[in-house]
Amino acid sequence: MVSRQVCTVALLLLCGFIPTYASVYQVSLQNSNRYKIDYLTDGNLQHALRSIAAPSNVKELDLSGNPLSRISANDLNAFTNLELLNLSSNVLFETVDLGFLNDIHFREAHTVDLRGNWLQCESLRKFLGIDKQLNKNTRRYSNPVGEEPCNNQSEVKRVGIYCCDELLAPFADRLIDLKRKELVPNSGQSTESDRCELEKQARQRKINELQNKLTNEKNVLEKSISETDLEIINLQNLLNETVSSLQLDPSITNQGPLQLLRAIVQWYEEQYEKEQRDKDSTIEMFHRLVQMEKSLRGDVESLEKQKKTEQVNLSKVEDELTEMENRNDSDGDDNEDIF
Ligand SMILES: *[C@@H]1O[C@H](CO)[C@@H](O)[C@H](O)[C@H]1NC(C)=O
Ligand SMILES: *[C@@H]1O[C@H](CO)[C@@H](O)[C@H](O)[C@H]1NC(C)=O
Ligand SMILES: *[C@@H]1O[C@H](CO)[C@@H](O)[C@H](O)[C@H]1NC(C)=O
Ligand SMILES: *[C@@H]1O[C@H](CO)[C@@H](O)[C@H](O)[C@H]1NC(C)=O
Ligand SMILES: *[C@@H]1O[C@H](CO)[C@@H](O)[C@H](O)[C@H]1NC(C)=O
Repeated sequence: MVSRQVCTVALLLLCGFIPTYASVYQVSLQNSNRYKIDYLTDGNLQHALRSIAAPSNVKELDLSGNPLSRISANDLNAFTNLELLNLSSNVLFETVDLGFLNDIHFREAHTVDLRGNWLQCESLRKFLGIDKQLNKNTRRYSNPVGEEPCNNQSEVKRVGIYCCDELLAPFADRLIDLKRKELVPNSGQSTESDRCELEKQARQRKINELQNKLTNEKNVLEKSISETDLEIINLQNLLNETVSSLQLDPSITNQGPLQLLRAIVQWYEEQYEKEQRDKDSTIEMFHRLVQMEKSLRGDVESLEKQKKTEQVNLSKVEDELTEMENRNDSDGDDNEDIF
């Protein structure tokens, strides 16, 4: 019964989180220093990262498969010993400043998995190039084993192992490019607005996915809460019944289940004490009876002894009597004369 109540409390706590979608994220410890966080959004990222108790012990941080569109070195300040940062399958766009990777306190050899994002190829090339010069071979930015194919969209290409958006030029250059495209309509395969639309769709897909997951979870929780309510009512009924079958004061059924339980336990304790007292007095009586038996046995023995001497005396008397009778017979005539 106690565990059921703990369960209820846990459910209520969980439900408290449900209305605020932004704060729902799920941190799972996969082994002693490997964490995975699901249901992350740009809005709850900082909160989620701060919820990890000893960030300096974390070696692997898996943030993959979320709708994250931004992340900065600041967010990861406390994680001073990272070996693997998995940012794959988020919606990081080329507007993300990859320079943040330089500011994270990685251990010497480490991996950052950026696959499955929408990073601009040019940004990646530039970043990887700069990085190679600065850090030689100490850093790795991918899972070296196996390459995952980018999808076959015309704009999605590959730099090293990264899927990226092949845009003609980064940032300022792109603006010029855009202007040019505007001036020559239908000349390019892809326009700035197409690209924005792609980004928007990708982000929307992830957000929809997240919302569906959360809605499902909410339904499951709501269902289990109503089940729990039912169980609490059953429990209350059981307690009410117990109270009436034990003939306890019926007014206590107005109190909560814990108080009822306490009253019932108290009743059983009193019952136990009473039985204990009965048992003690029965034992005492038994001892008294044993004592009595012993003294009766003594009495019987002495009476038997007395009976024996009386029998001896009786047979003596009988002997005497017989003797007297014999004598009476033999000298009957003489005696007749006397009387
Ligand atoms: C990152 O996460 C994805 C999805 O969970 C996984 O497939 C991939 O192997 C991970 N990358 C590394 C380097 O572990
Ligand atoms: C992408 O295209 C290449 C050839 O253009 C083809 O061999 C490959 O199977 C395609 N991949 C996917 C995932 O469709
Ligand atoms: C238990 O008894 C009280 C008082 O009689 C009543 O108010 C309450 O509804 C009962 N609970 C259940 C679950 O029957
Ligand atoms: C039996 O006889 C003896 C002597 O004759 C006497 O002292 C004794 O009291 C008698 N016992 C009983 C039980 O009458
Ligand atoms: C002895 O004899 C007399 C007379 O015959 C009789 O009355 C008496 O009862 C006898 N006594 C006994 C003890 O038998």
